[in-house]
Amino acid sequence: MKKFFLFRCIVVTIAALPCTISFAQKKTIDQKVDSVLKLMTLDEKIGQMNQYNGDWDATGPITKDGDKQNQIRKGMLGSMLNVTGVEHTRELQEIAMQSRLKIPLLFGQDIIHGYRTTFPIPLAEACSWDTTAIKLSSRIAATEAAAAGVHWTFAPMVDIARDPRWGRVMEGAGEDPYLGSVIAAARVRGFQGNGLGNVDAVMACAKHFAAYGAAIGGRDYNSVDMSLRTLWEIYLPPFKAAEDAGAATFMNSFNDLNGIPATGNKYLQRTILKDDWNFKGFVVSDWGSVGEMINHGYAKDGYEATMEAVTAGCDMDMESRSYINNLSKLVKAGKIKVELIDDAVRRILRKKFGMGLFDDPFKFCDTTREQQQWNNADNLKAEKTVAEKSIVLLKNENHVLPLSKQTKTIALIGPFIKAVRDNLGFWSYQYPDDSARITTQYQGIQNKVSKDTKILYAKGCEINDTSQAGFAEASDVAKQADVVIMSVGEASDWSGEAKSRSNLQLPGMQEELIKAIYATGKPVVVMINAGRPLIFNWTADNVPSILYTWWLGTEAGDAIADVLFGDYNPSAKLPISFPRTEGQIPIYYDHYKTGRPATSDSDRFYRSAYIDLSIYPKYCFGYGLSYTNFSYSAITMSDSIMHANKPVTAEITVTNTGNYDGEETVQLYIQDLVGSVVRPVKELKGFQKIFLKKGESKEINFTVDIDKLKFYNDDLKYIYEPGDFKVYIGTNSQDVKEASFKLE
Ligand code: GLC
Repeated sequence: MKKFFLFRCIVVTIAALPCTISFAQKKTIDQKVDSVLKLMTLDEKIGQMNQYNGDWDATGPITKDGDKQNQIRKGMLGSMLNVTGVEHTRELQEIAMQSRLKIPLLFGQDIIHGYRTTFPIPLAEACSWDTTAIKLSSRIAATEAAAAGVHWTFAPMVDIARDPRWGRVMEGAGEDPYLGSVIAAARVRGFQGNGLGNVDAVMACAKHFAAYGAAIGGRDYNSVDMSLRTLWEIYLPPFKAAEDAGAATFMNSFNDLNGIPATGNKYLQRTILKDDWNFKGFVVSDWGSVGEMINHGYAKDGYEATMEAVTAGCDMDMESRSYINNLSKLVKAGKIKVELIDDAVRRILRKKFGMGLFDDPFKFCDTTREQQQWNNADNLKAEKTVAEKSIVLLKNENHVLPLSKQTKTIALIGPFIKAVRDNLGFWSYQYPDDSARITTQYQGIQNKVSKDTKILYAKGCEINDTSQAGFAEASDVAKQADVVIMSVGEASDWSGEAKSRSNLQLPGMQEELIKAIYATGKPVVVMINAGRPLIFNWTADNVPSILYTWWLGTEAGDAIADVLFGDYNPSAKLPISFPRTEGQIPIYYDHYKTGRPATSDSDRFYRSAYIDLSIYPKYCFGYGLSYTNFSYSAITMSDSIMHANKPVTAEITVTNTGNYDGEETVQLYIQDLVGSVVRPVKELKGFQKIFLKKGESKEINFTVDIDKLKFYNDDLKYIYEPGDFKVYIGTNSQDVKEASFKLE
């Protein structure tokens, strides 16, 4: 008895200890926040809710006005964006220390896929389905940015996107809520590292809250109109995952959602985020979005826009000057209670304390650390590894790939072969030494092949013009080679913010160039560099080997060469469906069945599809090839009956039947055959990445528990319903093995 008692006593003591410590810590921060708040004038409180762009760079329509430094000195400015570098951040922080209460500035920055070392664009990284790699990418980005004085990144962008006409699809993780959620959490953990307050951790910012990726027509900033069920089922899960992972901040979005701009949307910011999800961080507007509610026709002037935004839960105003110009008047007129201001300021100050900025406003202003992170060779090595995992092998007929490093003569053709900054993609940083730092595809291939290999080169055409003047030279070069490697695509400013496209074809004369080179009869490999799914049907149907290389970042050339010559066996899988035509958009894998489901292209009538087009995307969600082949056994279910408290297991054996060791992402989908609302034909509910040596087999088990069967019903309750289910396991969302079970 004594022994038990002693044990219990220890457990109680130990159990209590962390609570005591954490309560004390929490109490201390809250106490400090309140002690500062008590000293603040209304204008100083409003100053904390005000964020301006620095004078060095802009990521939106810049407002030139007054003397920012004096506003900092007077405590009218609590945060700035687009100020980087120890020198600049220290300069402004020193001015903040001249203010009456010495409240430190927060420096925010769009560190979307790297700062000094540019990583693949997020949509490319999502192709890796490798949360460890993705977390590492964010971790390195945070370390480099924090060394440059940045406290806060406006990332991860976690918007689900199913319309590749929308240019910002490049910033996210594609079309699926499950994959988007696991990646959102990985990115938040990468950015925030071992916790805020560490000098290599930056605050994450889940954006754009919410449903920005569902802009009608894929036109950026356009309206969004959807059922609340779709909002909860598809668009909110990655935000909830980011919040669960501890995201310090959220950013609301430019779009109106069902008629209410997100920035003034109380349902989103208070009901869901701050009440339902108990979010303790703060919400920043997107650039100017408070003031843009006037354009939306939701506020008649800045005074009303300010009232709507603060009431709805937008804690900080990025760049619109609405708060600094109107909030004091609103409080004095009794339109806004000071309690709302205090709540917003508490949230902001809590983060400044959490970052340790009150203890040491200059803790992120260390020139030694900045220099150490400026040319970190380990970061470049990591970038190459992540880039290799992001390259999707779309086609490889006759095993043209991998190429031999001893190939006698290789022709390199296309406007991307020697491109430099176009490898970095949108939301990247340009530096004077880029030409020396970025490994071009030409250099990567040159570094890889034997010294006896002869490399020929012709640009062939520009990325986007009508001239075919370079075709003759390119054809001549191709005819002299044993194999031709072509690199085409979108320029790095053709996807990203305000970059929606109505035409997703390869720009300019690039596909004509591919046809001309193909006509030489030489074996051709085509690489496509883009920030989104493009449409290239002729190339896809005729060229034997195709790699989708996205925009892969600083080490693009070496990563691509590793794949081309077999030093890395491609393993990436698409996180978004590739449409055959613009007219097929939106197309995504987890669609409903409808009353007239199409099950094959031969079923050409009475179906929810087009009479002049296949029912399938060009490449489906989860698709990606390897230099080897993987075979899947039948699925074995542990039981045909499942209970809410008794999960079942789906087991399958995967075998590497090819000639190369390789990595496979085994995907688990589930279908609820009948529901109180219609249910998708399948939904991704898990995946496992496995590495198999050639000839090796591995048994894979997926546990199907009740959480994998839940959905939002018509009353927006997150429930499960007994009935029949199907399990699909396979190499992509179409090529799957099937099994069934019943939930009782
Ligand atoms: C931009 C973007 C947002 C970014 C912000 C600051 O307009 O919409 O994603 O974080 O402004 O640059």
